[in-house]
Amino acid sequence: MSLKENQLLKNIDVSRLPVHVAVIMDGNGRWAKKRGLPRLMGHRAGTESVREIVRVCGELGIKFLTLYAFSTENWQRPVKEIQGLMKLLVHMLRYEVKALDKNNVQLRAIGRLSALPPGVQKELQKNIQALQHNTGLILNLALNYGGRQEIVDAVNTLVQEGCRTVNEKAVANHLYTADVPDPDLLIRTSGEYRISNFLLWQCAYSEIHISPAYWPDFRREQFYRALIDYQSRSRRFGGI
Ligand code: IPE
Ligand code: IPE
Ligand code: MG
Repeated sequence: MSLKENQLLKNIDVSRLPVHVAVIMDGNGRWAKKRGLPRLMGHRAGTESVREIVRVCGELGIKFLTLYAFSTENWQRPVKEIQGLMKLLVHMLRYEVKALDKNNVQLRAIGRLSALPPGVQKELQKNIQALQHNTGLILNLALNYGGRQEIVDAVNTLVQEGCRTVNEKAVANHLYTADVPDPDLLIRTSGEYRISNFLLWQCAYSEIHISPAYWPDFRREQFYRALIDYQSRSRRFGGI
């Protein structure tokens, strides 16, 4: 850890950490473009940030980390980029499972997973199973995820169950995140001020931190800064 990182860490109150951190990992393409590289190189560089943020969350004892890896809208991208992203995902799953296991990480996934390529689904299921005994950080990957679709799926399940009216609890209990607390902290990288269809229901009272860093540049230091920013907020939940 660098001196700067150590200094930042001293400003974090470990007794008041967010339980659930959700991240919109944005800016891979622009990171690559700035360097005159193809977009896929940005995505590849971004996997190093995933590794590091997962490690830091584990160290701090943060319980849930949800990463927005592929949105329902991302199918609009060129086929080559989608294929590259899926390949990278399979690669990550295959080669990170050992390190994740060593760090006591449990893996989960949210989204319309059945529409992902079969190879991705298979690798995902295999790894979720292999890591299910772990008791540390719960790493939740949002894949083919859309917040509106999630709510529609929940309502459809309720209808199929014969439900005629719903309440908040019923909807929440049928979301992909039924057994996960709402995010305390929502981070978006690359300086964009948008939700982009991420955890629409769950982020009702999340604190939002926008980092100017492109995702491949978002590392330990930037994550510590997000936590310090979070701890400077007064969460009122509509009260006074
Ligand atoms: C985020 O980076 C990764 C995914 C959405 C899969 P982008 O690919 O959106 O990068 P920019 O926003 O074009 O820079
Ligand atoms: C959001 O980023 C989706 C993910 C990070 C997976 P996008 O780059 O797709 O979002 P927009 O298009 O800028 O809103
Ligand atoms: Mg983007």
